[in-house]
Amino acid sequence: MDKITVIGAGNVGATCANVIAQKDLAKEVVIVDIKEGIAEGKALDIWQTAPIMHFNTRVKGVTNDYLATKGSGVIVITSGLPRKPGMSRDDLIKTNAGIVKEVTEKAIKYSPDAIIIVVSNPLDVMTYAAFLASNKPSQKVFGMAGTLDTGRYRAFIANALEVLPNDIHALLMGGHGDTMVPLPRYTSVNGIPVTQLLGQDELDKIVERTKKGGGELVNLMGTSAWYAPGAAAAQMVEAIVDDQKRIIPVCAKLNGEYGLKDVYLGVPVKLGKNGIEEIIEIDLNKEEKKLLTTSSDSVKSVMKVLDDMKLF
Ligand code: LAC
Repeated sequence: MDKITVIGAGNVGATCANVIAQKDLAKEVVIVDIKEGIAEGKALDIWQTAPIMHFNTRVKGVTNDYLATKGSGVIVITSGLPRKPGMSRDDLIKTNAGIVKEVTEKAIKYSPDAIIIVVSNPLDVMTYAAFLASNKPSQKVFGMAGTLDTGRYRAFIANALEVLPNDIHALLMGGHGDTMVPLPRYTSVNGIPVTQLLGQDELDKIVERTKKGGGELVNLMGTSAWYAPGAAAAQMVEAIVDDQKRIIPVCAKLNGEYGLKDVYLGVPVKLGKNGIEEIIEIDLNKEEKKLLTTSSDSVKSVMKVLDDMKLF
């Protein structure tokens, strides 16, 4: 791919651009920020690791100069305020909705064919905001949360079992928040159901810790996480750039799948060069369906807050 744009040179945006560069996913990655010098500085710093880390992706930073993003194949939106201790992701909606709308409109003007990946919080609703602002089909506008949440879940399981994290295969659905739906029934260690390796109590603890995984880090650091969120977004970019057809959970707009409509929610999809190529409907039992519906209701209530802001 010729160009990838990352909007927001905060910790998540810079980490995402860094991983994109290290994986050599494009000829150029452009980082945009509104704060003078920040994107330029971080881009220069990342670029100076090229001889050390052996990559060739050019890294460019600009202040509000969307012309420099022209012709991007993928745009990752990370702009917005991060959480402070005591805040929920939903508390951020008032500030971040306007920001996501503005940057989406500006970026799409120069890259009308780009696929948009949203990382800003509250994730599910900011993805909806980018969808409304971009006027693009929902297959090309989606959010990053499932890769991050399953990453945390897999890391916790790997610790509990003392095994290789990459050998844990897992799926997680629902919104990026307390109502996310981890699915132990669909979790295995290279095919061995995790339920045969971990007791119910321990698994329940891991599920609870995963649900509050972002909050745990906010409490430790006073701001939200960036290494895993940035790397997770870059992994989605990689699936698109290399047309990998990976099946991973993504925050996607549902249109009747799982009996749900007009809501952005984490579901497994096939991700390739066209964006979401298929939403995969897995069998859920009664309990799991109920959790997913609760999650959908919770996201819908925040979507309504956005609708009531009359930004669109
Ligand atoms: C988290 C933030 C990025 O989960 O939503 O860490």
